[in-house]
Amino acid sequence: MAGKIKLNKTAVITIANSKGGSGKSTTASMLARTLGEKGYKVLAIDCDSQMDLTNTLGFTVDESLVEFGLTLIDFNKTIYQMIRSKGDVRDFIIPTKYKNLDIVAGDDYIGRIEFDLHHEYQREAILKKIMKDLVAENAYDFIIFDTSTHLGDLAANILNITDHVIIPVPMAMFGIRGIRTFIDFYNQFTEINENLSILGILMTMYRPNNKIMNERAETLLTNIFGRELLFRTRISIDANIEKAQWNNVTAVDYAPKARATVQYHDLAKEVIKRVKG
Ligand SMILES: Nc1ncnc2c1ncn2[C@@H]1O[C@H](COP(=O)(O)OP(=O)(O)OP(=O)(O)O)[C@@H](O)[C@H]1O
Ligand SMILES: [Mg+2]
Repeated sequence: MAGKIKLNKTAVITIANSKGGSGKSTTASMLARTLGEKGYKVLAIDCDSQMDLTNTLGFTVDESLVEFGLTLIDFNKTIYQMIRSKGDVRDFIIPTKYKNLDIVAGDDYIGRIEFDLHHEYQREAILKKIMKDLVAENAYDFIIFDTSTHLGDLAANILNITDHVIIPVPMAMFGIRGIRTFIDFYNQFTEINENLSILGILMTMYRPNNKIMNERAETLLTNIFGRELLFRTRISIDANIEKAQWNNVTAVDYAPKARATVQYHDLAKEVIKRVKG
């Protein structure tokens, strides 16, 4: 693709916030789609038992959802079995119908993985072992993890192999306070994983007309993180996001010209520049 910035190695990005409903899965799917459209090879990995990322990219493990157009995947090929069996991630990758975009699909068992593995030695390094060959061969420009709000062994595994964290923050005060819990957890991993850093804070569900709330939210975020860490791109509240998800697609496909879609394309450009450094 003309003008495409070349990346030298796979960038592992985790979308995280211990506040629920903050826009994690939406950001994961929209970034995966927009980066893929821009010619970058992307692997999306769904680590949340709600499977929003998996559904939005067209897959399910639930037979009853097939009639809504989702493709049924074998439960033996999803994230739970991958971690449980400590298989090589490359055996669990499924191509999506979208350009440059593959997935390791989620399932509703992933929530019990911590119980299953609680007796394992070095259980916080399992994902690292499973993924090291794929990461080393630089087959993907981006690997994008969608995560749940739970900060336990699985989140620890993910942060152990993450280069860049993106924290979506909805523009409401309670949303901003919620990120402190994640930051406290994140801080425990910066010494263990020297590649780990925060790529940026993404203001989501932004209401352009609500000046007072926006100013307060921005001041609070700037005080916590510093202005440079805030992405310039903000994602507005846009009904097309939810409508798209009801149709099991992303807004890139449902409403390519919608405000939030354009903003996520802008975010992808910022992400590429920040990853390149
Ligand atoms: N920019 C937006 N405009 C309007 N609705 C949005 C926007 N971003 C996300 N939503 C909606 O808000 C809800 C929460 O978003 P999302 O599922 O991405 O959050 P999450 O952080 O992944 O949630 P969870 O913690 O439950 O995994 C969803 O219904 C989604 O469709
Ligand atoms: Mg989610």
